[in-house]
Amino acid sequence: MSKTRIAFIGAGNMAASLIGGLRAQGVEATHIRASDPGAETRTRLQAEQGIETFEHNAQAIEGADVIVLAVKPQVMKTVCLALRDDLKEGQLIVSIAAGITCASLQSWIGSHPVVRCMPNTPSLLRQGVSGLYATAEVTAAQRQQAEQLLSAVGTALWLEQEQQLDAVTAVSGSGPAYFFLLIEAMTAAGEKLGLPRETATELTLHTALGAARMAVASDVDAAELRRRVTSPAGTTEAAIKSFQASGFEAIVEQALHAAATRSAELAEQLGK
Ligand SMILES: NC(=O)c1ccc[n+]([C@@H]2O[C@H](COP(=O)([O-])OP(=O)(O)OC[C@H]3O[C@@H](n4cnc5c(N)ncnc54)[C@H](OP(=O)(O)O)[C@@H]3O)[C@@H](O)[C@H]2O)c1
Repeated sequence: MSKTRIAFIGAGNMAASLIGGLRAQGVEATHIRASDPGAETRTRLQAEQGIETFEHNAQAIEGADVIVLAVKPQVMKTVCLALRDDLKEGQLIVSIAAGITCASLQSWIGSHPVVRCMPNTPSLLRQGVSGLYATAEVTAAQRQQAEQLLSAVGTALWLEQEQQLDAVTAVSGSGPAYFFLLIEAMTAAGEKLGLPRETATELTLHTALGAARMAVASDVDAAELRRRVTSPAGTTEAAIKSFQASGFEAIVEQALHAAATRSAELAEQLGK
């Protein structure tokens, strides 16, 4: 990665996080370029990361090994069609846009190697997780480059089938919001049980963080961790039984199914 030249098309939140992550990993500023229509965005990125920025996308991709498409899905087709004639053979295209398929991208840019990724919002704190899918044209070295890029903002996991990105969207892409919803509900319930709001919030947030850290560090799965903290006839068991009597698992399954279905529908619309 130290010799790889990377160009970012679109220098918004996600591109800035990826660039910050790459710089923190020791990638030289001279190896990273970015283009964005916003003069303020360019000036900020230049000042914060020391990289060269451009108003025009074609300038940013000159000499790049990897081109990261980090614009909103709605402008992706226009951006790709405009770049098509300036792309050089073998340049790897990495798209982080939600819902734009590799087939759509290749119909707009030609048969370049494409890695499609689905990162999530905690990537902005370098605590993200991404699903990655590579087209057949992507070489082993390019897979490594894409993996290192996304690893700069969290954990990167490869998928065998592109369709699995709809499931990734349902689990981790939209996932932070499910935990926020649980945090909201637990805080409100704690308040109803007599705690001051601030106390209920702090207790909930640190419980969420502690439980996630325990689960990530543990060599046993979440079900076993739960069994270990659920004493027979105790308080946790009373709560878990109440959750399950209300169909908790089925509610979660239905919600994720709805997200995956919506992801597939959006891909269909955005690819036209
Ligand atoms: N943020 C997340 O947590 C997250 C998670 C998963 C996937 N993603 C994906 O990441 C991509 C970027 O998201 P983001 O949150 O970083 O969005 P963002 O902050 O809005 O960044 C997009 C940037 O692209 C610029 N842009 C607009 N048109 C352009 C063009 N023609 N050429 C070059 N740049 C252009 C925008 O400038 P203007 O503001 O001036 O239009 C903006 O600075 C999206 O496709 C999104 O689906 C984001």
